[in-house]
Amino acid sequence: MEKIVSLSKRRGFIFQSSEIYGGLNGCWDYGPLGVELLRNIKDQWWQSMTYRDDIEGIDASILMHPRVWEASGHVENFTDPMVDCKQCKARYRVDVLFESLSDKTISKLADSLTALLGTELPESLRQVLEEETIREMKGIPNYPYTLDERVQFKRDNFVEMRKFYERQGRLRDWLMSPGRFNALVETAEIPCPNCGNKGTFTPARKFNLMFKTFVGPVEDSSAVVYLRPETAQGIYVNFLNVQLASRQKLPFGIAQVGKAFRNEINTKNFLFRTREFEQMEMQYFVKPGTDLRWFEYWKEERMNWFLRLGMTKEKLRWNRHEPEKLAHYAKDAFDIEYQFSFGWGEIEGIHNRTDYDLSRHEEYSGKSMKYFDEETKERYTPYIIETSAGASRAFMAFLVDAYREEDAPTADGKMDTRAVLRLHPKIAPTKVAVFPLVNRDGMQEVARKIEVALRPHLRVFYDESGAVGRRYRRQDEAGTPYCVTVDSQTLQDQTVTIRDRDTMRQERLGIESILAYLQNKIFVS
Ligand code: GAP
Repeated sequence: MEKIVSLSKRRGFIFQSSEIYGGLNGCWDYGPLGVELLRNIKDQWWQSMTYRDDIEGIDASILMHPRVWEASGHVENFTDPMVDCKQCKARYRVDVLFESLSDKTISKLADSLTALLGTELPESLRQVLEEETIREMKGIPNYPYTLDERVQFKRDNFVEMRKFYERQGRLRDWLMSPGRFNALVETAEIPCPNCGNKGTFTPARKFNLMFKTFVGPVEDSSAVVYLRPETAQGIYVNFLNVQLASRQKLPFGIAQVGKAFRNEINTKNFLFRTREFEQMEMQYFVKPGTDLRWFEYWKEERMNWFLRLGMTKEKLRWNRHEPEKLAHYAKDAFDIEYQFSFGWGEIEGIHNRTDYDLSRHEEYSGKSMKYFDEETKERYTPYIIETSAGASRAFMAFLVDAYREEDAPTADGKMDTRAVLRLHPKIAPTKVAVFPLVNRDGMQEVARKIEVALRPHLRVFYDESGAVGRRYRRQDEAGTPYCVTVDSQTLQDQTVTIRDRDTMRQERLGIESILAYLQNKIFVS
């Protein structure tokens, strides 16, 4: 990862935000190459979503009516549980704290938690079991148990569940909830990773991740608005506007790309968790009862999108959310995860959001959000299948996946190591570099003419400085898939060499064929 961060800065992919002032945590700037890569990723996503007849695009405003976030559940639920060490004042998110504890400590804490069952079920643990159960029951019609029965069942099987997670090597996941933390905080000696003291933590408190600001000159509670923490809500509130304006029938989708903001407690791992980022979200509205089929369809589509853009198959996997970890709106959720150097991390979520969002907006706005089915003459609230990708996380995954250090021959036949970004040509920031082999005999003029001819069609880089071998290496590192070189033979027969970044092989081609050749290689094959 350090190599990627350093390359990003050196080559102009990513800079720290406000670097000359010491930077701003969780915020990054995209440099000249970075902005091109990011745009290309977003364009590829936009094309794959909206160049079809069942999906429309939209660009909603970042600031929305504050009631939107009450209806969506963000005011109440979009929180991270946070704890403070009373001794050293270090602040942690509960899951981050658990992650930093050793396996031995985790095992001891699990013992303490199961020991609580020996006495009367403490209120905090009862709450945990109840919350889990309520989530499980959601979306299952005619759930066959009462809440009390199910909580009792969970209590009876508590120790078995612990063993189950332990066998899978996932004891940490089993412990990782604010409720469990609170059940432990009074009875167990949880060590602070910062100062080493034990039993010094406050109970977990909810910390809302939305950034607040004010509209107009008066900074009071009636003027509060939020910077959107997801783009999805701008789509839901416009569902009927888009449907009526575009005369779409179910099933159909609405796609949007835009900024989102979250006041993350712990920003980490470069672009992975930031406070300002971009999302590429598509909400697909379907008739209830057809949601499972469409959920499968979109899962497959989205995984294939990453694969088609060249991401390594073995570094991608699915992670299904367990019932107790499902977001408040979801009936089912799968993440596409990428294997980063720090572990597997989510780059996109596919969610079955049921009719939760539209029903809530109907309830909070008092306006009907129902769809009228002309064929059956029914009026109903559609279910929503959401595909929610982070543009910046996808950016980071594409960058990491493309980075290689390879043995390669130099111009004089020796071997050396080249750093290369094997980005798919469709997303590469620069598509072609044009060089004169040497700066004499009119080669520069011919190379400049080629550059000018290509510019309206492709992003071109012209370079005449230094040895040609070094120029190739610089383009390899920037991910440029093709280099065109004008040499002495060009002056005689109007042909050039085209070098392929990945194979490093060169072909000879007539000048008049360069554009068609590149367009075919980059956009078609
Ligand atoms: N509308 C649903 C939603 O927002 P999410 O799982 O919270 O779901 C979706 O976020 C995607 O947004 C994630 O898969 C990730 O790619 C990206 N994302 C979320 N939080 C992020 C952050 N703090 N920094 C960068 N990307 C983030």
